[in-house]
Amino acid sequence: MHNADVTPKVWERILATRAGRSCLCCGEWSAGERAAIELYGAMIAAPGSGHVAAQIGQSLDGRVATVSGDAADVSGPDGLAHLHRMRALVDAVIVGVKTALHDNPRLTVRLVPGDNPARVVIDPSGRLPNDARLFAEDGARRIVIQTVDVPRPEGVEVIRLPRDTWIAPGQIIAALRDKGLSHLLVEGGAITIARFLEADLLTRLHVAVAPLLIGAGPQGLTTRPVARLAQARRPETQVYGLGSDVVFDCLVGARALACAWPHAAPQPAALHG
Ligand SMILES: NC(=O)c1ccc[n+]([C@@H]2O[C@H](COP(=O)([O-])OP(=O)(O)OC[C@H]3O[C@@H](n4cnc5c(N)ncnc54)[C@H](OP(=O)(O)O)[C@@H]3O)[C@@H](O)[C@H]2O)c1
Repeated sequence: MHNADVTPKVWERILATRAGRSCLCCGEWSAGERAAIELYGAMIAAPGSGHVAAQIGQSLDGRVATVSGDAADVSGPDGLAHLHRMRALVDAVIVGVKTALHDNPRLTVRLVPGDNPARVVIDPSGRLPNDARLFAEDGARRIVIQTVDVPRPEGVEVIRLPRDTWIAPGQIIAALRDKGLSHLLVEGGAITIARFLEADLLTRLHVAVAPLLIGAGPQGLTTRPVARLAQARRPETQVYGLGSDVVFDCLVGARALACAWPHAAPQPAALHG
């Protein structure tokens, strides 16, 4: 496991690199800072490319909330900061309507320096009320993907897509790219992440595990079951200690990714040049 030390200097460099004003290939860094650069640098895609990452914060027993729906503090403080950093490194954050209804999230980066991404909710039947916090005007783009003709607040962009059993995740990605949003973070819940994972459209999956036991409640991930362990997906994975939480950074597919930073640990020479 790599212990990642996300110092202000590291985060400033990551943001500057994402903005095209710096690079990750020079500077003097401690081992912990190098690990942090590896973790977040992998989220910076090359110009003209795009990536679709997913992130889930869960307990030791794989739960994301209690049976009664309490989901506020599953992740510890460092897991939450990690989630906000992930948001700051993408153009848009995507959630399913059940997450929007249960948690009423703001989907901002208020815990770390950075820009708020666009907020996207997949709400095929138009169930989310117009006073949901993710529709609030705060300068960030707000987008709803729906199949029905439900009026939305002024300034909220509506994408109408057809639905078979599901709206095809590939169509969602294409529609967002048409709007200039290429680097995406699917933030949950399990149903929404599973659609992208099973369509083989995720490039990275971050599972942030916090040391608590919930006992029952919704699971973080639910994918098609396999009969034998030999059939299980075993993605190439790096593990990062972030203080209160441990992040599993899994390479789950590569169809959409052209990354500016290799997943493998960077060579010290490259970082101290
Ligand atoms: N700990 C974490 O990191 C985390 C993060 C997010 C959420 N959560 C928790 O997860 C729970 C909610 O997750 P969930 O898995 O039940 O639901 P969800 O993924 O939030 O929402 C699923 C719903 O979104 C719509 N949807 C998503 N993708 C679609 C697609 N491709 N095509 C058509 N419709 C699509 C459907 O709406 P319709 O039902 O209207 O068809 C679907 O039933 C909550 O308890 C929340 O607190 C935890």
